[in-house]
Amino acid sequence: MSIMPELHTPIDVLCENLERTGQSHLARYIRGVTPASAQSTIAAQVQTIDLDELASLIRRYITEAEHEPAQGRIAPASYYALDGTAPDGFWDRAEYHARGEQLVCEGKVACFTVAGGQGSRLGFDGPKGCYPTSCVNDKSLFQLFAESIRANEIKYACLIPWYIMTSPLNHDATVQFFEEHDCFGLTREQIMFFNQGVMPSLDAETGEILMRDPVHLATNPDGHGGAFKALGVSGALTDMQTRGIEHVSYFQVDNPHARMIDPAFLGLHVFAPDSSGEFSSKMVSKASWDEKVGVFCSVDGRTEIIEYSDLDESLAKQSEPGGRLSFNAGSIALHAISVAFIDRVLHDKNAALPFHKALKKVPHFDLSTGQMVSPESNNAVKFEKFVFDGIPIADRSIVVETDRVEEFAPVKNATGTDSIESSKRLQSLRAARWLAEQGVVVPMRNDEVDATIEISPLTATCAEDLATKTLPEKIDTGSTVVL
Ligand code: UD1
Repeated sequence: MSIMPELHTPIDVLCENLERTGQSHLARYIRGVTPASAQSTIAAQVQTIDLDELASLIRRYITEAEHEPAQGRIAPASYYALDGTAPDGFWDRAEYHARGEQLVCEGKVACFTVAGGQGSRLGFDGPKGCYPTSCVNDKSLFQLFAESIRANEIKYACLIPWYIMTSPLNHDATVQFFEEHDCFGLTREQIMFFNQGVMPSLDAETGEILMRDPVHLATNPDGHGGAFKALGVSGALTDMQTRGIEHVSYFQVDNPHARMIDPAFLGLHVFAPDSSGEFSSKMVSKASWDEKVGVFCSVDGRTEIIEYSDLDESLAKQSEPGGRLSFNAGSIALHAISVAFIDRVLHDKNAALPFHKALKKVPHFDLSTGQMVSPESNNAVKFEKFVFDGIPIADRSIVVETDRVEEFAPVKNATGTDSIESSKRLQSLRAARWLAEQGVVVPMRNDEVDATIEISPLTATCAEDLATKTLPEKIDTGSTVVL
């Protein structure tokens, strides 16, 4: 926790609450710890926890370990496909594109990035959004997004506010990065950074709250689903309402190909007959049955994402007569969410998102021995919420297919699948496709580009933007090109 909360509740009351909710070890420690300043430092952290909610999570997931309620009848989710077919017939891209553009021009759309994660899986010591990503100039993810927003503002003559959710692990470093780079051409006023919440990390056997050191609880960010609460607490939701924003375009910080202003998608989200205009999503055809992406399913008739780790292997492998996977709709974590829906999730108890449990390794301060413990295997439980659990809460949620190369080049791992190498290859490939559409001759070898091509978002955010640009006639084999 970077900012220490002030203590409002008497320490005795907090300790009684801890005892009542199965955390007597911590109450005992707080009562006995010296100096008094340590006592209030720890108590102030305890005060931010909903201890009753935590106790029921512990009963459900740790001590009584009830089984998750059985999933209902699972079928593949239907979607608006790239070939123009819709769940109920056909859809007209040009019509929805025009209606989506209108929303953007009217200033009703903002961008929303979840950027609470660190670059640790990449071996990068800092906020993931600062990771050098573009294939020639090494622009950071944040710079690519900022330039894309600016290009769309110019194209549609509007202002596009940008909400960025950070976590206590990277908030200060993220804000500093933007300020050092003059917000990459955006104004400081249009960007709102806000911290997501944290949950205490718990002993995996007993559910007891762990300590990071003698005066700090061990905590973990509460998942990107913590966004709903954080949008409310931080004032970001009120800011959206004040600015007249009606929908946010949601994307993860790890995907430089996220097309955050996609008029056809926004048009479908708001105006498609089977959409309630609350929570819509994009999908791509899965690359393989075991690709690590959530899958859009229909569970008892309601659309939802089943995370890759939770989808039954036999369903994941099931295929249609032509060989295509039955459950092929992979989530690339691109959504359109209405501001009214965010407000509803925040204020309607029946619309609360569930928690998910994960095991992890947490070094901690052992209260009984006074020693630090460095576990060799998973010793702790963390609880997180997922933003996409909002999908089944929406009245009617739609899924729209997009092209994988166009919109998915994630940077998640240091090497291999979804790594910076694979992302850079995809960035070059998408640039080559855009150029080829404009008649530029591009060197290709075995479906890969035989050159390295970077197109700045300020030059084009989609293939059509290149139509008005002066372009080379051809790209030389093996060359490096920046446009
Ligand atoms: C995620 C999705 C998966 C989807 C895939 C597409 C989850 C649980 N799964 O998988 O369904 O198919 O992306 O790329 O999200 N984040 C926060 N705060 C947190 C946790 C995460 O802001 O507390 C942000 C991260 O910065 C990152 C994003 O959420 O931008 C994704 O989180 P991650 O845990 O890396 O999910 P994946 O396994 O990549």
